[in-house]
Amino acid sequence: MSSYVPTLAIAIEEGASQSLFDLAQTLAADLAIPIAKDEAPADLFLHVRSDGLAIGPPGSRTAVSVDFLGGSAAHRRVSTGGKRQPLARALGLNKGLHNIIDATAGLGRDAFQLAAIGCTVTAIERCHVLAVMLKHGHARGLHRGSLPIREVLNRLTFVHADAATFLQNLDNSQRPDAIYLDPMFPTRPASALAKKEMRIVRDLVGDDQDAATLLETARRVAMSRVVVKRHPHSSPLAIDPIASHGGTRVRYDVFAPIS
Ligand SMILES: C[S@@+](CC[C@H](N)C(=O)[O-])C[C@H]1O[C@@H](n2cnc3c(N)ncnc32)[C@H](O)[C@@H]1O
Repeated sequence: MSSYVPTLAIAIEEGASQSLFDLAQTLAADLAIPIAKDEAPADLFLHVRSDGLAIGPPGSRTAVSVDFLGGSAAHRRVSTGGKRQPLARALGLNKGLHNIIDATAGLGRDAFQLAAIGCTVTAIERCHVLAVMLKHGHARGLHRGSLPIREVLNRLTFVHADAATFLQNLDNSQRPDAIYLDPMFPTRPASALAKKEMRIVRDLVGDDQDAATLLETARRVAMSRVVVKRHPHSSPLAIDPIASHGGTRVRYDVFAPIS
């Protein structure tokens, strides 16, 4: 992780209900961050809104949310996902592997996509604010989602933990078929960062400088394979991928387990 730590505060939407104020108080205590009065200065705000939690700079219009209900890219993928897409092929889903750990959950987009194509996914996020947003979005989706959305979310579990520690503590019977990594890199090219949501995640978490160590840990735990998402022009995270899948925008490198 980078040494940069942004200052955070909670912003409550105008005209919020009492239940949103109560939620904001709970989050402030849980995350040990203040509730901003009149948008007092902070690098990033956790916006508490009637349509869910969102993180971003002041002014919630540019904030990004964990929203498994509507409008988000993840939601649309319920109907468009398939086992032929590059990530699914890299993870071996066409070979019947379906028990996945997403060790870098972020905003939960990829984890949701994998659950939408039938995987059972445990998604790990070490950033406390993101982990809270993921769990809140998950609970909200289970409460308000349509039956197809709830079926997807029932295959998905979010855990707040450092993934390396989490993986090392699994016993043999808990080892997943495959582990997926999508770390934030210092050299992640500008085009890959163009999506505003990843820019904001990067502002929040910095660069994942321990990604190579996480890959090595993952390779000792996965039963079948580890898949790492990379920009097509970036070198692999370790020297020995056994396959790569993808196209012009993204590449998925496949690594064999090591004992
Ligand atoms: C580029 S984002 C992942 C985006 C995600 N694939 C999605 O679809 O939204 C990388 C995330 O991995 C998390 N991360 C990196 N290393 C981690 C670790 N060792 N344990 C848990 N989370 C980690 C970071 O905090 C960050 O939120």
